Order: sequence, then structure tokens, then C-alpha cells
Amino acid sequence: MKKFSKDFIWGVATASYQIEGAFDKDGRGESIWDRFSKTPGKVLKGHTGDVACDHYHRYKEDIALIKDLGVDSYRFSLAWPRIIPEGSGAVNQKGIDFYKRLIDELLDQGISPAVTVYHWDLPQVLEDKGGWLNRDTAKHLRDFAAVAFEEFNYGVDKWITLNEPWCSAYLGYGSGEQAPGKKDFAANINASHHLLLAHGLALEAYRELNLTEDIGITFNLSHHYPVSDKPEDLDATRIADGLLNRWYLDPVFKGAYPADMTELIKLVEPFVKEGDLDLISKPNDFLGINMYSRNIVKADENGQPQSQPAVHPVTAMGWEIYPESLYDLLVRVDKDYGPIPIYITENGAAFDDRVENGKVHDAKRTDYLERHFAQAARAIEAGIPLKGYYVWSLLDNFEWAFGYERRFGIIYVDFDTQERIMKDSAIWYKQFLQELKK
Ligand code: FCB
Repeated sequence: MKKFSKDFIWGVATASYQIEGAFDKDGRGESIWDRFSKTPGKVLKGHTGDVACDHYHRYKEDIALIKDLGVDSYRFSLAWPRIIPEGSGAVNQKGIDFYKRLIDELLDQGISPAVTVYHWDLPQVLEDKGGWLNRDTAKHLRDFAAVAFEEFNYGVDKWITLNEPWCSAYLGYGSGEQAPGKKDFAANINASHHLLLAHGLALEAYRELNLTEDIGITFNLSHHYPVSDKPEDLDATRIADGLLNRWYLDPVFKGAYPADMTELIKLVEPFVKEGDLDLISKPNDFLGINMYSRNIVKADENGQPQSQPAVHPVTAMGWEIYPESLYDLLVRVDKDYGPIPIYITENGAAFDDRVENGKVHDAKRTDYLERHFAQAARAIEAGIPLKGYYVWSLLDNFEWAFGYERRFGIIYVDFDTQERIMKDSAIWYKQFLQELKK
């Protein structure tokens, strides 16, 4: 593998609802994920984030593990209902205090905090008023973000406004697989615009505060490959790419929704107000990319995209392992939307890990990471301004609609005892970093 430069940022990532637990502690309000996970049939085995990794109480132990790994940075998210339990208005000091304790401990240990403002745990009170279908939610996110920017305006090294708005919009309001579980394709497009607007407003608030650390947004992107060269497959691939990638990248980096996605534009137009796209396309300091797999596309009988089965082995999520797509994606994003510094803000894999004599031999995860790191190195060689890489995830955690049934951690969590065990992949990552820093 090519060498990464010494200033390349290595990290691990988590998100609030997936690890914190303490769902009713110290004034935390209800989030859409509390409500959704407690609705029968929504999450595998009826799992909830009530306790999760109990990170709220064990953050020191977890930071000690992060320190032991030897990474530079830790990406985590803020639980909006912990900080503003009613979604707007009064700030809960105890929520602020928790994140200050966390940030202080990270700084004491020499780990730089990368903070995601919104990683899906919308206050339920806002959902009751329409959630991301209500334009006001974007303004409330702006206000929440501004509180966070001011309160944590020391030591936070990188801000990410939103994590994966496609998931919030499509999985939350389109397919209904995730909170709040609405099933209406048109609504998902409406939600996507309000999410992007929230990003624009938060970015504007940040610039108005004259803060100088880097700020950006994280998208879940995936490179799309046509199953054949037939015109209909090429066209279906363009549409699939349009739905996942361009629908989010174009407004942020080009100030317009993609012109060829005309049907979608018809759906979103009523919600776009004058000035929205100017706000949405204000310059970012970096782009965060979460990348797990690729998409192979075939046209169905109506010319619509249909994802094709994997060619290579898959992870426990059923996601094909195809590291080359990371390289292809980075080259494409840089060509079409750059130059912009890029961070891989998530990459990793779920496998069915087992503890054997106190160890977890997750060779497949190590292999997955090593091969993806190699593609990142290849992209850097090709001149792509890739600045850092966060492994998803520090810990096994609440994997949304899959509950605790999918393990993404490089550290194993026994959810009965809360014992943490470094998997072989964590030990490999640690050694990899030690080698690099020699
Ligand atoms: C991403 C999410 C993250 C995690 C991984 C596996 O879509 O951002 O919270 O669940 O997938």
C-alpha cells in the first residue's frame, strides 16, 4: 500500500442514538428513533436505543479505547433532544454539559473532535409538526446548530451539518424503513429539500459567527455501474446515480437540482423558495463521504433502475465488497464537483462476529478495511484531495432498523454486560497506524 502522509487524519466514527443510551436521563427529550423503535415491527427483535452502548455513562472508558487505537480524531454526533428537548426554544444545560465533558476528555487525551450536528435523531415534537416535511424544521436545525457552534466553540476541529440526508429523506419519508417510517415517495423529495435547506442555514449561521474551523456536509454516496452497455442500462444507471448522488451533490456544489431528473424537480419545485439554492450552495470547507458498497444497475421493463445482485462476496448487510468503487467514486466526485477537500467520514463492514476465548477473529473486516485503505491511497496518488478517513464504527452499536443484530464495530460490545473487546481488526488498525507514524 502507498504511504499516507503524516498529516492525513485517521479516525473512528459513531452517532448519538446508536451508542449513548440514557434515553431519559438528565432531561433528554424523545426523538423519532425512540418512538420508531418502540413501535412494534419497526426494528428487528424490537430493539431500542434505550441503553445501547451506555456510552453516556461510559464515555471515559470509550475514549480510553480511542486513545489506545492511536487515531487522530473521533467523529460523533449531538443528540438534538438532549440539547433542545422540545426541538426549539429552551436549551437543556445538562445536555450541553455532557458534550462538554466528552469534548474535554477527548482534548485531554489529544484526540480531535469531529462533530456531526444532525445524525437522524430529530426531536419527536418536531416530527409531530411534520418533521422534515415542514420547512420550519430547517430553521429549528439552524438554531440548534448555532447553540452547538457557540457552546462547543473550543476544541472542535471539524463540523458536519448533516449525516446522509438521503437516508433521512428516503428511508424516513419514502420507503419508511427508518424513522419516522412514512411511505410516500413525493414526501421524500420534499424532505430532501428541507434537509438541504437546513444545511444551508446552519452553514450561514456558522459563517455569521465568524468561526474558523472547517465545516461541511456528509453524503452517503455510491458508485454506479451499468450491468451492460445497452442504452437502456446506461440510462437507468444515470437515473439511479441521479437519485442517490446527484440529487444531493448538485444543489450543494452547483446550486441547482439535476436538470435531467425532471419528474423529481416537478415534485420539489413547490417547496423551493427564492434564495434557497443560493443558501444551499454556499461554499463548504470539505465534503464528507460515507461509502460502503457499489451499485450495479439494470433497466427494468419500464426503463427504471433495478439494482443487480452482487458479483463479489457481501457483508452481513448483504452489501457487496468492491473496494475499487471507492477509488472510482472519489475520482468522479473530484472531477464533477471538485476541487474540494474530501474526508471519508464512514467506511466499514458488518460481519457475524463471535467471541472465542475472549477474542474476536474478524479477519474479513480487517481485509475489508485494508483493501479500502489501499484504494484511498490510490486516489491520493491520482491527485484527489482526500484528507482523512473515519472507520465506521468504533463500537458495535444500535444499527437502526437492524437493532443489535448487525455488528459494525472494530470493538465488540457484549450488550448484556457492556464489556468491550478489541476485535482483531481494531488491533490491526492500531498497528497500521503505529507503522504509519514511525
Ligand atoms: C450509515 C449511517 C451510520 C451507520 C452505517 C452502517 O448509513 O450513517 O449511522 O448505520 O450506515
